[in-house]
Amino acid sequence: MGDKILVEEIEGCTNSEACNFNPESTIDDGTCAFEEDICGICGGAGVEADDCCDEGETTDDCGVCGGDNSSCINFADEILPIFIDNCIGCHGGSGGLFLNTYENVMAGGGSGAVIEPGNHSNSYLWQRVDNGSMPPGSNPDLLTEQVNLIKQWINEGAQNN
Ligand code: HEC
Repeated sequence: MGDKILVEEIEGCTNSEACNFNPESTIDDGTCAFEEDICGICGGAGVEADDCCDEGETTDDCGVCGGDNSSCINFADEILPIFIDNCIGCHGGSGGLFLNTYENVMAGGGSGAVIEPGNHSNSYLWQRVDNGSMPPGSNPDLLTEQVNLIKQWINEGAQNN
């Protein structure tokens, strides 16, 4: 009886909607932040990918600070096999779009280029596999993972690696 409970006051962000919410805090110290910057830092000031790197480093085409592009999607190992397995039955012969080599993929078909490096949503080839119109008819659609690999490869610059 008569025990006093000492309430320790802890300063921090008390708003549970904030990305730096501190559930232990009892007094709001005005530091609540609600958005992550491009580097994934809550309340951070980064606006370009390079802001996430240590000084003197820049991001490579795969978004890795100081990287050498080696972690990017690899065209020969990961993308071309998708085309070989699912597309060249129709896109490997004569006339139109050839999907059998990097050069032919980038050369495009009757409507011109089908890949816009760095921009998957503007790339006609990606649009056609994403909406399921290629492969056509009863040919099975690509798996979501394959569509996403193509997207990432395009966004990483559609490199011949
Ligand atoms: C069963 C045959 C067949 C298969 C398999 C096939 N295509 Fe096609 N593709 C066509 C035909 C025919 C056209 C032309 C008519 C059209 O645009 O729908 C075409 C057109 C395209 C075009 C537009 C080319 C242009 O320049 O207009 C793209 C891009 C394309 N295909 C991508 C693919 C990809 C990627 C695959 C494999 C994932 C694939 N196709 C599999 C038959 C096929």
